[in-house]
Amino acid sequence: MSEKDMPHSGHYFGDQRDLWWNYDFLELMAKRWDLSSVHSVLDVGCGIGHWGFTLAPFLNDKSQISGIDPEPRWIEKATERAREKNLERQFHYQIGKAEQIPYEDNTFDMVTCQTVLIHVRDPSIALKEMIRVLKPGGLLAVAEPNNLAPLLVFNNLNVNDPVDEVLMAIQFYMMCERGKQALGLGYNSIGDILPFTFSQQGLRKIQIYLSDKTSPLIPPYLSREAQILLDQIKAWEGQEILTWPKEETKQYFLAGGGIEAEFEEIWQALLKDFKKNMQAFKDKTLSTTGTTLMYLISGRKK
Ligand SMILES: C[S@@+](CC[C@H](N)C(=O)[O-])C[C@H]1O[C@@H](n2cnc3c(N)ncnc32)[C@H](O)[C@@H]1O
Repeated sequence: MSEKDMPHSGHYFGDQRDLWWNYDFLELMAKRWDLSSVHSVLDVGCGIGHWGFTLAPFLNDKSQISGIDPEPRWIEKATERAREKNLERQFHYQIGKAEQIPYEDNTFDMVTCQTVLIHVRDPSIALKEMIRVLKPGGLLAVAEPNNLAPLLVFNNLNVNDPVDEVLMAIQFYMMCERGKQALGLGYNSIGDILPFTFSQQGLRKIQIYLSDKTSPLIPPYLSREAQILLDQIKAWEGQEILTWPKEETKQYFLAGGGIEAEFEEIWQALLKDFKKNMQAFKDKTLSTTGTTLMYLISGRKK
């Protein structure tokens, strides 16, 4: 599929997304959030359904899960996946966006999203809508990251990289994140500031947790998870993608204050680094903890 035909987030919907959570951690969150009493859920920006399918086993047996997404292809695919899992009676999908949710006020026991607020222009507008469709006392729970933090997690090969190279990468990605935000396309480290937005929206009982999931790759990569991760990484090989495709990255870099003449050099340096890691995977010499920073932030509607 060409870059321009790719629906939103199409690069990120591989099998690896099924491995984002530790089941026992979600059991703990289900207790903390009292998910067994949840009968109706809205999954905002559902994509092809990963988050809803992940949460379903922890909800009340008779729960109904609705998903909305602005991309028609994701709605089709999510519906198809629910059918394949024989879950079409429990899952219902329709086109819709976070800023204009196609449901009445006070409809759901729980409204949730995973890695969606990082893509919206104004999360406070989206959250206001999400709260509108939540029943009084209902649970708003979001899984959103700080995507810059992993830049300070090292692997066995880059742990001694020169400080200025590390800082160059951090500066580059910070500028890209800020540029993406300036273009109205969302802020990739939004998790850090969502608790403040929750409090401004009048939510109570605000809680913040961090996922305890890592995605380690330790030679000789025998686990099923390592194989899936490697397949995903190999699928990106040959494509000029580092977090985002090259042209998209350039657009963000420039909007974040970057200088056009500097982009190519930094991009090539980062790409070279990525290729070095890819080769090390193939040679089975790279070891990484695969640590990310994913928040689970929740609050209750008054
Ligand atoms: C990174 S994907 C996450 C999908 C899904 N929540 C998951 O975790 O697998 C981001 C999703 O947000 C959707 N999206 C983008 N802008 C949106 C908006 N304004 N309102 C709702 N969803 C949006 C995209 O179409 C995409 O499916």
